[in-house]
Amino acid sequence: MRCHFSTALLSLVALASFAASSPAQKPAPGVALTPPMGWNSWNYFAEKVDDKGVRAAADQLVASGMKDAGYVYVNIDDTWEGKRDASGVLHPNEKFPDMKALADYVHAKGLRLGIYSSPGPKTCAGYEGSYGHELQDAQLYASWGIDYLKYDMCSFIPEVMQKQAPHDPAAQMRLMHQAYERMDKALKSTGRPIVYSFCQYGWDAVWEWASQYGGNLWRTTGDITPEWDRIYTLLSRQAGLEQYAGPGHWNDPDMLEVGNGKLSFHENRSHFTLWAMQAAPLLAGNDLTRMKPEVKSILTNPAVIAIDQDTLGKQASRIYTEGQVEVWARPLRGGAMAIAILNAGDDRYSTHPFHLSLAKLGLKGAQQSKDLWNDKALELQENMPLEIASHDVLLVRIDSPKR
Ligand code: GLA
Repeated sequence: MRCHFSTALLSLVALASFAASSPAQKPAPGVALTPPMGWNSWNYFAEKVDDKGVRAAADQLVASGMKDAGYVYVNIDDTWEGKRDASGVLHPNEKFPDMKALADYVHAKGLRLGIYSSPGPKTCAGYEGSYGHELQDAQLYASWGIDYLKYDMCSFIPEVMQKQAPHDPAAQMRLMHQAYERMDKALKSTGRPIVYSFCQYGWDAVWEWASQYGGNLWRTTGDITPEWDRIYTLLSRQAGLEQYAGPGHWNDPDMLEVGNGKLSFHENRSHFTLWAMQAAPLLAGNDLTRMKPEVKSILTNPAVIAIDQDTLGKQASRIYTEGQVEVWARPLRGGAMAIAILNAGDDRYSTHPFHLSLAKLGLKGAQQSKDLWNDKALELQENMPLEIASHDVLLVRIDSPKR
């Protein structure tokens, strides 16, 4: 039985600091200094997530070596919510008998627990949202030991924005900003460092204002699906957003589908590569208890993860495209550089006769690089021909670029 009295008391204490907090909050210092890594229940389990499945995911993060590779957040997405009691305290539904015990279990493995809510009265799957209970919910999360919140707009659009400001898009957007700010203040008032993930599908150029309201990451698009066309569409939408990413605040092209659906080996590794190039959060979304070795080898490639987690925090730019070939590059700590060359063509068996232009990348002459998927040295030469299969990628790292 959870203690409602202590939750109510905590809420009162929090209310005082809530009222006193400054209007323009910034992301909590020290949180998400590199893009968050972990696992989230939604992409594979959706509404089938339960306590047992979350424990199994935590177990597998450790057993598979993913935890050692950097995946620490175990994030429960939508459909955990039950009903509010007479004092407004939200209880998990029957799938989650004891959230505090679950958090303790996850923490004991050196992992962190994430949860999900909506600023609207209902979540996207129709469960209880945080509208009117933001502070109470933030306190509840902190009392359980929650480390990460994904806050998903959902019913806030029809129930609040459209009802309160019909036919006034500017006012609707202000309501949205205020909702995200309200939860930011509530989370900060708990004193617990909680990664704050905005999920409002990129509305109103969220990258321009999210970090002002405490966002550590923000979805830039609608939902991902385990299909190459969708993954490629989301990737394309990241071009031009690189200036908004940096330590503590990241563009989020949505969670990983690596290992889901019918994605081929090449598609899985291109998806993972390009997400790493984007300095995207790496939240695996597959069933870790039935992960194929080739999927595990993609998700745990240390050299690729090191690109994503590079402490400089610079998201890649799409430097140039040639037909269906795209060349993305990002600077790395210590003057190094990563280059990803993607064959985005659906029915083009290889990029032949694509020739790499080092000059367009600002490089002069031959470069010593490492091919990170094949773990071998590769000398890049000006105008060299490259053969890359359909939907596959070449990812190289140059430690000492010659310019
Ligand atoms: C929205 C989000 C998804 C997921 C579902 C849950 O669609 O974008 O990532 O959280 O809601 O209902």
